Amino acid sequence: MVTVTILPHHEICPQGATVELKTGENLLEGLHEHGIKIEHACDMSKACTTCHVIMREGFDSLEEMDDVEGDLLDRAWGLEPNSRLSCQCIIADKDLIIEIPKYTLNHAKENH
Ligand code: FES
Repeated sequence: MVTVTILPHHEICPQGATVELKTGENLLEGLHEHGIKIEHACDMSKACTTCHVIMREGFDSLEEMDDVEGDLLDRAWGLEPNSRLSCQCIIADKDLIIEIPKYTLNHAKENH
């Protein structure tokens, strides 16, 4: 088990949170199970940026992202060097500290 700390986010998690997730677990799914409802407009099919998170600690423990994820992140609001799409992150063996960006660009919503 690793400890995942979520820094406070005004809508999703106003007080911040700390949860325990298993190695091998999908980060976004694990957070949802604990009530941290990060957006996921494309339903985890790696076609949006709404699940964007910034790894304040533990970035290097995660498997490297592929080109598709990198290209998507280039369009994310608030991109940082340690940004990831949370639906593509598999928990490794190190604790994580995560910041949820203040905004997302929800293309799915914009197109309606
Ligand atoms: Fe769309 Fe993660 S939910 S890329």
